[in-house]
Amino acid sequence: MQVGQPSSGAPRGTIEAIAAASRESVMGYTPSVGLEVLRERISRQYAERYGVEVDPDRVVITLGASGAMILALIGCFDEGQRVGLPQPFYYGYRYTMSTLGIECVRFDTSVENHFQPTISDIEAIDGGIDGLIIASPSNPTGSMISPSEFQELAVYCEEKEIRLISDEIYHGIVFDDEVAEVTGVAFSNEAIAINSFSKYYSMAGWRLGWMVVPEYMVESISNLAHNLYLCPPAPAQVGALHALDCREELDSHVARYRKNRDILLNRLPDMGFDRFVAPHGAFYLYCHVNHLCEDSVDFCIRMLEETGVLVAPGSDFCPESGKHFVRFSYAGAPEDIEEALDRIESWQR
Ligand SMILES: Cc1ncc(COP(=O)(O)O)c(C=O)c1O
Repeated sequence: MQVGQPSSGAPRGTIEAIAAASRESVMGYTPSVGLEVLRERISRQYAERYGVEVDPDRVVITLGASGAMILALIGCFDEGQRVGLPQPFYYGYRYTMSTLGIECVRFDTSVENHFQPTISDIEAIDGGIDGLIIASPSNPTGSMISPSEFQELAVYCEEKEIRLISDEIYHGIVFDDEVAEVTGVAFSNEAIAINSFSKYYSMAGWRLGWMVVPEYMVESISNLAHNLYLCPPAPAQVGALHALDCREELDSHVARYRKNRDILLNRLPDMGFDRFVAPHGAFYLYCHVNHLCEDSVDFCIRMLEETGVLVAPGSDFCPESGKHFVRFSYAGAPEDIEEALDRIESWQR
């Protein structure tokens, strides 16, 4: 229950398309921004899912969301500029920024605000910021920002010339329709949206994602991509094109994640893991454990050694408060989740 990776593979339509394409095509280099047909299909998806017009020219196919984040950070910020990262956060961002010489300005969010940043959080940052990363649904909390709060934040960022980067990698994995899924590019022409085939599309190892950038940035992002890695992988792009039409199969995985989440919501409180906010999406549950241990790293190691079950210590997601939290990932099969909980339950007794 540690890794945030679907236990299912790529959709059947994808596998079949790739088998056929590999017999018929040499699968050579593609344009550095990706295949035109895939960019057009993704643009159509913005119209269908969010009701937002996105010119296909603004869609750049990347090496996963990770690759998109690298391009966005290099493309938008100079060395020494400051990018805000609401805590708890996906740990990769922090290290990408430090590698690029960008200052990562971490700031706390609160349970009351569903672990999402607010305008007052940003105004309280000493020295201000040049950019802001937001993820909804979030890793590690699975929480979401409401459409109205997101809009206010996006408009505020545009006014203050803070570049908003919206990581939408968990879009599609949303439960209960309680909070609507919205894209950052609906609210600001200066925002960048990042997405990926790794999570909803169940294609983590295919290393494909995309970003939507303002039109004036397309050429420089394309040049960067070309010089850094030439182009995203051709076979993955062919597969991804078909994955976008496999909604029924992919939604069945979301039903599985919802079932897994409900198993956790039902069983964890009786096992002492009773301090959490029920996740709206993604496949994570972030639980406060300071009544169970001093330090969640030690706790996770001990639980692994004594039960064979691993969960992620919160310090991966926030160096300070993280020692009081653990993250359960429930991307696996319901039987495995039940088995893991059975073992933790006997261990707790
Ligand atoms: C919030 C978030 N962003 C980005 C990534 C990286 O995803 P990708 O596999 O598309 O590079 C992850 C991976 O877990 C993630 O949780």
